Amino acid sequence: MARKSARFSGGARLAFRSFAGTGDAAIMHPPLDTDEYDVALEQVATRLSKARRVVALTGAGVSAESGLATFRGAGGLWEGHRIEDVATPSAFQRDPALVWRFYNARRANLRTVQPNPGHRAFVELEDYFVNRSEGEGAFTLATQNVDGLHRTAGSRRVLELHGSLQRVRCTRCSYLAATDEALPDLPHCPQCGQLLRPDVVWFHEMLPADIWRAAAEATAICECFLVVGTSAIVYPAAGLIDAARAAGAMVVVINPEATSASRRGGLALRGRSGVVLPQLMQRLRGGAA
Ligand SMILES: NC(=O)c1ccc[n+]([C@@H]2O[C@H](COP(=O)([O-])OP(=O)(O)OC[C@H]3O[C@@H](n4cnc5c(N)ncnc54)[C@H](O)[C@@H]3O)[C@@H](O)[C@H]2O)c1
Ligand SMILES: [Zn+2]
Repeated sequence: MARKSARFSGGARLAFRSFAGTGDAAIMHPPLDTDEYDVALEQVATRLSKARRVVALTGAGVSAESGLATFRGAGGLWEGHRIEDVATPSAFQRDPALVWRFYNARRANLRTVQPNPGHRAFVELEDYFVNRSEGEGAFTLATQNVDGLHRTAGSRRVLELHGSLQRVRCTRCSYLAATDEALPDLPHCPQCGQLLRPDVVWFHEMLPADIWRAAAEATAICECFLVVGTSAIVYPAAGLIDAARAAGAMVVVINPEATSASRRGGLALRGRSGVVLPQLMQRLRGGAA
């Protein structure tokens, strides 16, 4: 079947965008009624069982059950800090030690957490689609998370749209390294002596071009697009949802709350990813959840 290719307006620069207008009120979540949830679960499982290519976009909510704090939206505080003080290039220029303290604290916190049943269900989903249909390209996990928990759980095709807390890179040369070690407040490059920075994408920065392209390409040809644990307000990642819809994919939103993504149509499974995803996996395997 011919498919419309996904189109992305604007560059792949990290930013918030609001959803004013554009049919936001069209379709609401099903109410929190067990029967309706069960019907929706069955519908999603049926559609997934027929899909050959699936993409999942995940966000901070997937790691919430591992004990990591989610993110508090535009203008809000992020673990007690204003975004513009800790997650922009100008913040780093102004006060690199403050920014590094924030990231070092998050890096240290990572050493205390483990993947949860939601992360593990994504590994099973990948196995299910890869074994059943199109090989390694059948399941793509595009994540906004920088905590590395999808990889720790065992997911293989993970596109880290916003980088990783577990990597550092040089602000001058091409030095890039994976490290779980504790770092000083102002770590320096072992190659050139210049300041290192976390290998994450800050607001106003471009997403890594190859990773973004891979996510966009997978989205353009998927039949089912799962939106899990994300408020879908951070762009360009959230734009993948519209691109998936434009390309004719079924969008499934898994989140305990209604979000801008679920209000824009598709199917919604209202609940925690650590509960909903294992149930979905069980249905796919043919058992009752
Ligand atoms: N763990 C991480 O790596 C991490 C943590 C915080 C922020 N961030 C960054 O901040 C931005 C945050 O945007 P975002 O949309 O990912 O997060 P967000 O905090 O804006 O949204 C989290 C969403 O998850 C939902 N949620 C909460 N608990 C859930 C659960 N158990 N199961 C499923 N959903 C649940 C919430 O209702 C909310 O819609 C991203 O750019 C990301 O890079 C990453
Ligand atoms: Zn260097």
